[in-house]
Amino acid sequence: MFSSETVSALNDELQGKTPKEILQRVREELDSVVLAFSGAEDVLLVHLAARLSRPPAFLTLDTGRLHAETLQFINDVQKHYKIPIEALKPEQNEVDKLIKNKGLYSFYKDGHEECCGIRKVAPLRRKLAQYDAWITGQRRDQSPTRNEVAVIEIDRTFSIPDHQILKVNPLANVTSKEVWETIRMLEIPYNPLHDRGYVSIGCEPCTRSIGPHQHEREGRWWWEEATIKECGLHKGNLDILAKD
Ligand code: ADX
Ligand code: SF4
Repeated sequence: MFSSETVSALNDELQGKTPKEILQRVREELDSVVLAFSGAEDVLLVHLAARLSRPPAFLTLDTGRLHAETLQFINDVQKHYKIPIEALKPEQNEVDKLIKNKGLYSFYKDGHEECCGIRKVAPLRRKLAQYDAWITGQRRDQSPTRNEVAVIEIDRTFSIPDHQILKVNPLANVTSKEVWETIRMLEIPYNPLHDRGYVSIGCEPCTRSIGPHQHEREGRWWWEEATIKECGLHKGNLDILAKD
């Protein structure tokens, strides 16, 4: 268990480091770490982490609503890097109950929180009980809600009193442009949806392509306001939302 001062000092130390250095340092500090891969441009993290002398575990949240292209891509990444990627599924009973009561597209009317809660947050919560930390591809430039994302922080959503979970965001200070320059330069495989105008990629019914000069988050949950476009995965650590 780390004190908030220790985590804050580590965060300060890691501010100017590269994503690779951050991943290395985290592996030195922590034993059981899992990287959450969404099947989008966070493939850069998979590329870096798979090459570590002590790679983390890898997971993806297979919500049951991902694009076929994303599922294929995750499968390709697993083979390309020769790593196991565990696909976490939602509780079938919970999904069935939601669909029975509210249909397949309740999020367009009720907001995405309930469906994301069942398909993403709950499966991740169950899995993180086994880990000390998880690694995400969050970046500050991704969303108005993320402009203060830390490199390392105590996860306020998934930690419980007797089990602290750290959240590591090695790309926090990296821009989208830099991520893509690196993907191109290193010829890292990427989701083909990116070539069709999709920038930020989530589930199929909640993701759409964007036009020139639109912010990437405009392609996600576009029927909702920019300041609430967070599913429960990251909301707890985003002060802009916590202050509501
Ligand atoms: S979301 O909360 O709005 O859906 P976003 O798509 O920006 O998140 O992704 C940010 C990071 O959250 C990803 O880099 C990844 O670490 C994690 N994440 C989001 N969706 C998934 C998913 N389906 N599977 C695994 N990790 C995910
Ligand atoms: Fe459900 Fe949409 Fe959230 Fe996917 S992104 S879990 S389909 S509300």
